[in-house]
Amino acid sequence: MLRRSLSRISPLLSNGLLLRSGPRCCSSTHRFCSSSRSSATLNPSVSREEESRESPRPAATVSIDRSGLHNPPEHSHEPSSVPELVKHLKSIIKFRGGPISVAEYMEEVLTNPQSGFYINRDVFGAGGDFITSPDVSQMFGEMVGVWTMCLWEQMGQPENVNLVELGPGRGTLMADLLRSSSKFLKFTKSLNIHMVECSPALQKVQYSTLKCADEAMNDDSSAKRTISMLSGSSISWHATLEQVPLGLPTIIIAHEFYDALPVHQFQKSPRGWCEKMIDISEDSLFRFVLSPQPTPASLLYLTKRCRWASSEEIRDLEHIEVCPKAMELTHQIAKRISLDGGGALIVDYGKDGLISDSLQAIRKHKFVDILDNPGSADLSAYVDFASIRHSAEEVSDNISVHGPITQSQFLGSLGINFRVEALLQNCTEEQAESLRTGYWRLVGDGEAPFWEGPDELTPIGMGTRYLAMAIVNKKQGTPIPFE
Ligand SMILES: C[S@@+](CC[C@H](N)C(=O)[O-])C[C@H]1O[C@@H](n2cnc3c(N)ncnc32)[C@H](O)[C@@H]1O
Repeated sequence: MLRRSLSRISPLLSNGLLLRSGPRCCSSTHRFCSSSRSSATLNPSVSREEESRESPRPAATVSIDRSGLHNPPEHSHEPSSVPELVKHLKSIIKFRGGPISVAEYMEEVLTNPQSGFYINRDVFGAGGDFITSPDVSQMFGEMVGVWTMCLWEQMGQPENVNLVELGPGRGTLMADLLRSSSKFLKFTKSLNIHMVECSPALQKVQYSTLKCADEAMNDDSSAKRTISMLSGSSISWHATLEQVPLGLPTIIIAHEFYDALPVHQFQKSPRGWCEKMIDISEDSLFRFVLSPQPTPASLLYLTKRCRWASSEEIRDLEHIEVCPKAMELTHQIAKRISLDGGGALIVDYGKDGLISDSLQAIRKHKFVDILDNPGSADLSAYVDFASIRHSAEEVSDNISVHGPITQSQFLGSLGINFRVEALLQNCTEEQAESLRTGYWRLVGDGEAPFWEGPDELTPIGMGTRYLAMAIVNKKQGTPIPFE
């Protein structure tokens, strides 16, 4: 009983490892935790419904608060024991002369080049703060590999392709993709892999996960290139997508990347929609305040996002989150695909519509206060797939957007059932249990019905919480399995 009620308000699972799939808002309140995958990769060489697209509805208008200006409070100097990021955020608020947006706070907390959450350490796994699907099972990366090879086929098997992963974490997804496709030499030989990663610490982890080595170029220069020994493909790292060279057909994978992009939060008030901001209280703690006047984000982004929603969709909401960085990133992806051909796969937790109040903080596999010790906890928010679709569609007529479909539909159609059966033929009892629970966590919905172990360890499926969407160049046709 206690566990059941906890599962509604807390993401802690079984062994206490947390997946970042739960909102504080939105229609669903569950979050997921899971045991991580068994450490050995199993038989890599074995061959191995819900949200419908919204129909167009009348655009809605939003009234925006236009009342008076804000007087910032006085701020004192911080003692030296205060973490650098806290000092930095407070100095921004102080010198700005007023509160900062939730988006600015989130961006600093996650990616500040000195002390952002992701920048200096490995935050994944049992010893970190949360786990993701590639940690849960090798089958996740293998199925994304199947999707990638199918798209490459649909692209006419080009001899040279950019395979870009946005926010690759530990590099586990890419490693599983390369291992499982290594027999398809024509495919692996075509790959120029580009890892878009802002964290120098995680870039190093990815280098090691992908079994990389530096080798001299075949010319007279002293230049070197990096090769993954898993597939023989060349790999390079970039801080942003813009840095990835244009000019080759491109396949982009974004798994749990969009949810780390900063969101603006808006709240309905008697004065209209106000932006939620972060200020410092009299006792020098961070606190939320409402903007007393329209902000650039409310005028620009809230208005834009609400044009894509119906009055009914907005009417019942007290909060709205908007992610301009997701719109910009989608523009870039769509432009690239429109110019160079190829496609993108986005898998994340989210919804095919407006997001209410979903921002959450996770530290050491527990939900914590968003404002508590910034930089020491992950921040993430539900992904607004409808906004991604609209953003892509406004870029070019050459591209088409497919989905979202549930992760369960996506992995099921790509053959995860056959893959799990094949792996189960040749594994230890311990690996079999890890495979079954990993499978359920990836494609199941709610508590695993087969579970006979302790109640508090019941695997929770996230097959309907995570959604998959594809953006492709129209000349590729409809990507599998979005038919
Ligand atoms: C939630 S993790 C997802 C990791 C991985 N895709 C997985 O599924 O395990 C987000 C990843 O994106 C990276 N990241 C976050 N914000 C970024 C940004 N603005 N630019 C580049 N990388 C970013 C993080 O360092 C991390 O590798």
